[in-house]
Amino acid sequence: MRAAIPDGRGSIAWADVPEPRVGRHDVLVAVEAYSVNRGETFLLDAPPDGWRPGKDVAGAVLDVGAEVTALAVGQRVVAHPEHSGWAERVGVPADRVAALPDSIPSRTAAALPLAGLTALRLIRTIGEIPGRTMLFTGASGGVGHYFVELAAGLGARVTVMCSSVDRGQRLLALGAEQLVTDISDAAGPFDVVIESVGGDLFAATWRLLRTRGLLVWMGQASHTRPTIDFFDWTGGANATMRKFLYSESDVSDAADLATLVRLVASGRLHPEITAVADWTDTASVITDLLARRVRGNAVLEVTRMATTDPSTPTTSR
Ligand SMILES: NC(=O)c1ccc[n+]([C@@H]2O[C@H](COP(=O)([O-])OP(=O)(O)OC[C@H]3O[C@@H](n4cnc5c(N)ncnc54)[C@H](OP(=O)(O)O)[C@@H]3O)[C@@H](O)[C@H]2O)c1
Repeated sequence: MRAAIPDGRGSIAWADVPEPRVGRHDVLVAVEAYSVNRGETFLLDAPPDGWRPGKDVAGAVLDVGAEVTALAVGQRVVAHPEHSGWAERVGVPADRVAALPDSIPSRTAAALPLAGLTALRLIRTIGEIPGRTMLFTGASGGVGHYFVELAAGLGARVTVMCSSVDRGQRLLALGAEQLVTDISDAAGPFDVVIESVGGDLFAATWRLLRTRGLLVWMGQASHTRPTIDFFDWTGGANATMRKFLYSESDVSDAADLATLVRLVASGRLHPEITAVADWTDTASVITDLLARRVRGNAVLEVTRMATTDPSTPTTSR
């Protein structure tokens, strides 16, 4: 089958790869659509041996392992494989898969897993939400849109930081209270900061934390490590910094995916998909994502790729 493999230069190439093996606890998914996440692009820079990208997929179940009872052949699903989902088919442990109702198309569901799970688990990490003031940096991506809609819906007062007013408009519509493009305009102090950009912004947001506030350290999109000075006494007295990793969770991916699916099906969560392309365009979507030209999520639709596809190399692995 056809699949994306790392090209060794930070992007992908296409290759014929062996069919996935379906273990006793796995389901085999025919991938109809997938999404691309910033974290995966970081792995493309230094791919582990044999690793293939792809953590967000939606499609139909083709086969189930002997121990799988909750899912059946033919069922439409959304799944969060550990890797290898940018392919025609992928094997996924059943505890990382949730059923999809007919009302949610695969192209919508594909945007849910990594960004949606992250937003849901940020909410769980923060704990109390109603009435609390929050600042989210790097909010114009997939996680930011889900987080704002969920947190604002629960009564949080969310300030978002984006690179332009345009890139933040939808966040205001989803319930954000303030949009800033410069951190000096953010009206702190905040009970909670969710910081995903790094560099100097990290310390700037720490200064905006109220006494005993919480800074959730979520990422480093700028690739620049944060600097912080103990002797800077502005803000953040006795505050907590928590390094957040979405994959470390007491709740299974299947259960949290099912929650996200219910929220979407009932109109309480709206995946913000601003680019839909054919999967042969994956490399250019990665370029756009890294250049900050994607807002929300980008989704790739899997067509049966002809082996005469112009981007087809002859690699086999
Ligand atoms: N810790 C975890 O478990 C976990 C899980 C998921 C995601 N993450 C991280 O959380 C962040 C948000 O995830 P996401 O999927 O929503 O990412 P995304 O879609 O790529 O959005 C990240 C946003 O960061 C902003 N940004 C600000 N400064 C940047 C810079 N110097 N370079 C590139 N982007 C910059 C960009 O928006 P503007 O151009 O509007 O500023 C971009 O839209 C990412 O950093 C991601 O790696 C962490």
